[in-house]
Amino acid sequence: MKFFIDTANLEQIRRAHSLGVLDGVTTNPSLMAKENIRGEEACCRHYIEICNIVDGDVSAEVISTDFGGMVREGERLAGLHPNIVVKLPCTADGIRAVNYFSGKGIRTNCTLVFSVGQALLAAKAGATYVSPFVGRLDDISEDGVALVAHIVRVYRYYGYPTQVLAASIRHTQHIIQCLDAGADVATCPLAAIEGLLNHPLTDQGLAKFLADHAKVNR
Ligand code: E4P
Repeated sequence: MKFFIDTANLEQIRRAHSLGVLDGVTTNPSLMAKENIRGEEACCRHYIEICNIVDGDVSAEVISTDFGGMVREGERLAGLHPNIVVKLPCTADGIRAVNYFSGKGIRTNCTLVFSVGQALLAAKAGATYVSPFVGRLDDISEDGVALVAHIVRVYRYYGYPTQVLAASIRHTQHIIQCLDAGADVATCPLAAIEGLLNHPLTDQGLAKFLADHAKVNR
């Protein structure tokens, strides 16, 4: 399973990248706003900065909601750097735009996916990635991981090449469950990625090793 970090924060991206396990980055308009990045020019510069840190797919989301606007924005984003993946919402215009970019060989991430039906349309339109939102489904007492597993099953059965990118991951358990469900990618906050490292027996074991070493190496 590939690991993406779900943030527009350059420091967090650098930290995750320094572990040597990072395969890409996802952003969205809320994450860009959180970093106080305003306006198309500043956003474009920021995406290029991200691409200069991580040599992997970087999802950059359009703001337009109409097909023409999505095409204009998406073409500009795709032209910024070869690693940019154009992120489009799973609406009728978004699906048309996925299909348009797929025909041009431009990679896409179909986002805000909450059902197998939406994932089916994204795959048929030729999306490179489909992003089911695990945490947001859990928030309304639905089962986000079950949706990931269902999409994986259907894609494998019919041979769709679209990769399942588990999004809206909130904690380490989501990552492990999405791994079990067969997700191709999980995009995670830095805390969840670093959280995978935590185990008290590792800390205790290391403390003991160092203490034993120190006893005979004074
Ligand atoms: C990433 O592609 C999504 O936009 C993101 O994971 C959404 O996460 P959230 O539900 O925590 O906002």
